[in-house]
Order: sequence, then structure tokens, then C-alpha cells
Amino acid sequence: MSLVAHELSLINFRNAQDRTVILGEGTTILIGQNATGKTNTIEALQLLTTGSSFRHARASELLLHGKDQGRAAVQLKGDGRVVDVECTVTAAKKTFKRNGKPCRAQDLLGTLMSVLFCPDDLSIIKGSASNRRAALDSFGSQAHRGYDTILRTYLRTIEQRNALLKDVFVDTQLLTAWDESIALGGATLLTHRVSLFKQLVPYIQEAYATISGGEVLDCTYQSTLSNNITHLSREEVQQLFYDTLQQTREDDIRRQQTQLGPHRDDLLFSINGIDARTYGSQGQQRSIILAWKMAEVQLAQQLLGEKPLLLLDDVMSELDENRRKAMLSFISQGIQTVITTTNTSYFSADLLKQAQVITYGV
Ligand SMILES: Nc1ncnc2c1ncn2[C@@H]1O[C@H](COP(=O)(O)OP(=O)(O)OP(=O)(O)O)[C@@H](O)[C@H]1O
Ligand SMILES: [Mg+2]
Repeated sequence: MSLVAHELSLINFRNAQDRTVILGEGTTILIGQNATGKTNTIEALQLLTTGSSFRHARASELLLHGKDQGRAAVQLKGDGRVVDVECTVTAAKKTFKRNGKPCRAQDLLGTLMSVLFCPDDLSIIKGSASNRRAALDSFGSQAHRGYDTILRTYLRTIEQRNALLKDVFVDTQLLTAWDESIALGGATLLTHRVSLFKQLVPYIQEAYATISGGEVLDCTYQSTLSNNITHLSREEVQQLFYDTLQQTREDDIRRQQTQLGPHRDDLLFSINGIDARTYGSQGQQRSIILAWKMAEVQLAQQLLGEKPLLLLDDVMSELDENRRKAMLSFISQGIQTVITTTNTSYFSADLLKQAQVITYGV
């Protein structure tokens, strides 16, 4: 049995002065009017499982207005194990502990994976490429030990190369040294990322076909280095990246930035052969995200042998009836899910009976 989140407690966290939530092993429904603290609860669960939250909040924003210190803590249970994760918040910083021992935010990755689906996720399709890269990288960071470090290291070397490109007289010898390390780090990141995407795609396609009633979704990794990147080995990518950096050097110096590489790549989605970002309806775009999130849950189970915690914030109102049904049938397959809503009429009497239903009041 995988770890499941058992008890969440919030003290002076966002609008919660003192709130304890006992989560079900299956579905927990948080029901309440607007502004009662449902999303704040989802945010706390994401923060405690991944070390960061979709709102990218500063510590001071997490602290209940007027308080000096706050705390979010969750107890995870399973396999005869108990893991306590806590985050203490002051105006200046967040500090994390696992089983009482201080740890860094990124050390929490891999404790219990969580997958979030919220209305803002539409930006994964509608927004710029950085949103799509971030979505894939955030899954990678939870699914693979080391992914996060590879990503951070690569992005740091790109920053350093860009700083060098801004010098009045660019030191080309130093640039060559950076190019070697960027090509190595970038190739490592790219191979991990592409391999993850390749594994995710069949699950996304299958889920999309189910929820859309048979539409065909194509998903392509669009590399700025080559159209053929998915077929290259890590060594070949490294050589290609290094050569590309030499070819674009003059232009990079002129523009004072590294223009090609995995930090500029994109993911393309097309429905029945037509680009979903430009032409897809809002419902189709939302369905791609829904399919993506379902795929993350399935691939996580395959890769880690554990079920992630699924966090669904305010998504029922955004889906039509068929898609709601697909969503609910998916979560009824024994995945621990926390779902927020202002209205229980979206849920069947059966599900409401089985679920842990928690009412949030103003
Ligand atoms: N640091 C903070 N201190 C005090 N209150 C805060 C803080 N941060 C957010 N809030 C408040 O918490 C309240 C609940 O926010 P939350 O986003 O959780 O609502 P919700 O229940 O998800 O509502 P909705 O149904 O509209 O999505 C809001 O009124 C918000 O202004
Ligand atoms: Mg909300």
C-alpha cells in the first residue's frame, strides 16, 4: 500500500487560524462557499508534498494576516510507516521538517507524489511554452530522483552563460568552457525530459479519447535543436547541442542570450490534426489538461509503484457532464483524492456516501 495523507493541520496558515482536516483514503470532498479556505487547504497539501505550491506564494503571503508564525503539517501513513511533514512559516521564510528533522523544500520530493488539477492549469495549453515546460518538469521532479537537480543545474549554467554574453568584451575561451558544460547538462535534461514525455503520451492519448468520445490527440515534443530529437542518444544530443552553440554564438552574443536549448523547447498538442492551442475550444483545451493529469497519475503508479495524491481544485464546475463523469469514474479507482466544490450536486449519491465530506464555513 502506498502512503496516504491522513491528517492535515493548519495554524495561522492563510485564512485558517486553527483547522484540522482528517482525509479519507479514497475521496475527500471539501465543500463550502467562496472564500472559505478550500483552495488554501489544497495549497497546503501541495506545499507539504512537493515543497512548492501552484500559487508560488512568498512566506509572508502564507501567514495569517497579523500573525508572526504559522504552520502547516500533514501526517502520511501506509506500509506500516508514519511520515510527518511540516512547514513553519514566518514573515521571512518557510522552513520544512520531515519526521522532526529539518530538510530543504526539494528534499520533500519523492515522499508522497501529488498531482494537482486547477482552473489556472488552462495556461498549460493557452499560455507560453514556459508553462508547458514547467508542467512537464514539475512532474519529472516528483517522478525521478535527481531530475530537479539536473534541471536547476542546467538553468543556472544558462543564466551564467547569458551573464557572460552581456559583458562588453565577451571572453570566448570562457564561453567555450560554459558551452561544454551546458551541452552536457542540457543533453542530460533533454534525454530525461523526452523519455518522460514519451512515456506520458500514450496515457494522455488514451485518456483524451475516453473523455472526448473518440477525438484523436497528438502530442509532440518540439525541440529547438532538432526535429528528430526523440531518436537521438544522450551523447548525440550533447554533440548536437555543443555544435549548435558554436553555430549560434555570434547571434547569441548580439542578442545577449542563449537562444536554443531545452530552456526554449515546447510541447505541441493537436486534435484530429489541428493545433489545439490556436484552434481548440476551451472545453477541448481543458480536456487535454484533464487527460494529462490522469496520465501523470497512471505513469506515477507505473514508475514508482505508488499512488499519488490527486488534488482537484474547483474543476467540476469547469467540466461538462461527460467529462465530469470521466473524472469521477477515474477517481473512483482507488486514488486518494481531495476535491473542492461549492456544490455537491455534481457528485452521485453513491460517491457522497463513500466520500469523506467536509463542510467549510465562513
Ligand atoms: N495570508 C492570509 N491571511 C488571511 N487571509 C488570507 C490569506 N491569504 C488568503 N486569505 C483569504 O483566505 C480566503 C479563502 O481563500 P481560498 O482561496 O482558500 O477560498 P476558497 O474557499 O477556495 O474560495 P473559492 O470557492 O472562491 O475558490 C480568502 O478570503 C482570502 O482572501
Ligand atoms: Mg478556491
